Amino acid sequence: MIVALLNQKGGVGKTTLALHLAGEWARRGKRVTVIDADPQGSALDWSEQRAREGLERPFGVIGLARDTVHREAPELARTCDHVIIDGPPRIAGLMRSALLAADLVLIPAQPSPFDGWASAEMLKLIAEARIFRPQLAARFVLNRCGARTILARDTAKALARHDPPMLVATIGQRIAFADAARTGRLVADIDGDSSAVREIVALAAEVERLVT
Ligand SMILES: Nc1ncnc2c1ncn2[C@@H]1O[C@H](COP(=O)(O)OP(=O)(O)OP(=O)(O)O)[C@@H](O)[C@H]1O
Ligand SMILES: [Mg+2]
Repeated sequence: MIVALLNQKGGVGKTTLALHLAGEWARRGKRVTVIDADPQGSALDWSEQRAREGLERPFGVIGLARDTVHREAPELARTCDHVIIDGPPRIAGLMRSALLAADLVLIPAQPSPFDGWASAEMLKLIAEARIFRPQLAARFVLNRCGARTILARDTAKALARHDPPMLVATIGQRIAFADAARTGRLVADIDGDSSAVREIVALAAEVERLVT
């Protein structure tokens, strides 16, 4: 399957979640490739840092910040189990291309009552992509949740009210994610038994159930 992490908003966790989903699926024996479709190249930087630290390479990261992602990604998907596209903030052309390739788009968002989780532009791009690909699935994934957010999330009804709907799995605000990003690691490399790891395992399982 091809999963794209997209949100026009910067710094919401697209790269963090792309790398950690890839890491978790790789740990479970899947062949995974991450496409870094962001000219900032954060996923590639992470991979380079990882190599410098002498850590093993659980999945490949390739740079492809071009409007041709939709042509390349399906090719790659033939040779592995999961392709994960780490999208750029703001660049509509690239996001459009990623949306044409994806089976599922995950929209990382920071829970905040004050501003929308995705720009109207982002939701418009999804609606537009569905004209060509009506089967395109989309979900919000809440990232950097504080303990209070977890308490505030009540019933399944509240989750389903959103469009796109919100995944049940959420990711907390945890220092391990920031440490991992800096050092070419995944949270599982830092502490295999942490809350961060448990959240990623649950997220990866829920996402896989959605599309397979
Ligand atoms: N759950 C989390 N807990 C703590 N820090 C986090 C969490 N998720 C992301 N971060 C940190 O927030 C910063 C932004 O995250 P990330 O780079 O994944 O966002 P992004 O959406 O890819 O940003 P951009 O739009 O620039 O590509 C990074 O420093 C990352 O380590
Ligand atoms: Mg990023």
